[in-house]
Amino acid sequence: MSTVIKNGTIVTADLTYRADVLVEGGKIAAIGPGLAGDQVLDASGCYVMPGGIDPHTHLEMPFMGTYSADDFESGTRAALAGGTTMVVDFALPSPGQGLLDALRMWDNKAGRANCDYSFHMAVTWWGEQVFDEMQAVVGRGITSFKHFMAYKGALMVNDDELFASFRRCAELGALPMVHAENGDVVAEMCARLLAEGNTGPEAHAYSRPPQVEGEATNRAIMIADMAGVPLYVVHTSCEDSHEAIRRARMQGKRVWGEPLIQHLTLDESEYFHPDWDHAARRVMSPPFRSKAHQDSLWAGLASGSLSVVATDHCAFTTEQKRFGKGDFTRIPNGTGGLEDRMPMLWTHGVTTGRITMNEFVAVTSTNIAKILNMYPKKGAVLVGADADLVVWDAEATKTISAASQQSAIDYNVFEGKQVKGLPRYTLSRGMVAVADGKVQTREGHGQFVAREPGAAVNKALSAWKDLTAPRPVPRGGIPASGV
Ligand code: URP
Ligand code: ZN
Ligand code: ZN
Ligand code: ZN
Repeated sequence: MSTVIKNGTIVTADLTYRADVLVEGGKIAAIGPGLAGDQVLDASGCYVMPGGIDPHTHLEMPFMGTYSADDFESGTRAALAGGTTMVVDFALPSPGQGLLDALRMWDNKAGRANCDYSFHMAVTWWGEQVFDEMQAVVGRGITSFKHFMAYKGALMVNDDELFASFRRCAELGALPMVHAENGDVVAEMCARLLAEGNTGPEAHAYSRPPQVEGEATNRAIMIADMAGVPLYVVHTSCEDSHEAIRRARMQGKRVWGEPLIQHLTLDESEYFHPDWDHAARRVMSPPFRSKAHQDSLWAGLASGSLSVVATDHCAFTTEQKRFGKGDFTRIPNGTGGLEDRMPMLWTHGVTTGRITMNEFVAVTSTNIAKILNMYPKKGAVLVGADADLVVWDAEATKTISAASQQSAIDYNVFEGKQVKGLPRYTLSRGMVAVADGKVQTREGHGQFVAREPGAAVNKALSAWKDLTAPRPVPRGGIPASGV
């Protein structure tokens, strides 16, 4: 059965024009005027855009003594409800666990996905097994490797491990990613704050000031440069980190920064709320920052020094957050956002004039599809691309509320916020998953998206690295001593 989206305005990262879109066999079959199909979706007054891609989620993730509450079913249902048609989740080996073993666990969990998905692999420890298995992981179409520079004693890796892993990524044509916070300094600050009687959620923010993020971001950039690989910095939350990324890009380094919708729209005052639950529900790393840092992130999106808006969706219930009563270091770190990323970014970015519609498409979909080497299968409105599409009604409004959300948790960090701009239809490889705001997802419809290593940027950096590699200076024999 074919589907035609009629009377809409197509908005891509670089073009805005009126045309119909014909979908057949899960792919875009034609784009043009006056198309016909078996099923007609009316896009009058709407924008037809590539579905969102959220490259940073943690669904059913074992973390801090519990599991994140949204699994691949509820998480991807929330995604589709908000116009996101693909997620990239982190397969997370526990220290000592093999990468392929972890991958088997994530394959099992993801079988329930309602939309397409891919994985990044986390490097949480270093050894010969990890080195060897990285190649097999790339062979499975997982070409990005995440490193935690924080969470000391759990997921954190040190600089020697970072350098070794980055060099392995260079050999394999893969993309290293970093959670950039100085984990040693954070651990010291946490211990001191607790000793001084700072046990509440506000201490979480004090324990991770912007400097720990700026320092680690700069360090990761320099290590990547020495290894000859591009670098993707997840959840860039502050000017200190943005500055390091901006400077690196100006110097020609291939570095991308990813602000989250939470950091763009919520600030540190949340942690000083008199209600413990309210503050603890917003504990995540890095923490929310001041308005000045928010302005820096918005400027980065407008100028192109920051490339992608994600969520880091890692949702915990109030009950789980309460594990940290009396000790803020035990509050599970993470917040939700999958359903709200696109409407919140449209409302606070496009309707305010901070970014254009085309930039909205770039930072929610097309840029990351290119960075992760899956463009134009994903992130495009082009003939032959997957029909992952959102028909966006820029006039539709709602008030965000936990009572009506898809996520499994009992609150929403954006509770009470008004949004303008919502999906009328969301299509996942041609399947209409949201119609007139009604969610009609199908569990297990989602497919794994395998990605090719050796993206153009990797090849360019490797060529340069080879050209500038150390070489012995040819010299004649050492002259005999004495004249
Ligand atoms: O607080 C956060 N961000 N939780 C999820 C894990 C991570 O660091 O990305
Ligand atoms: Zn992180
Ligand atoms: Zn509250
Ligand atoms: Zn994360």
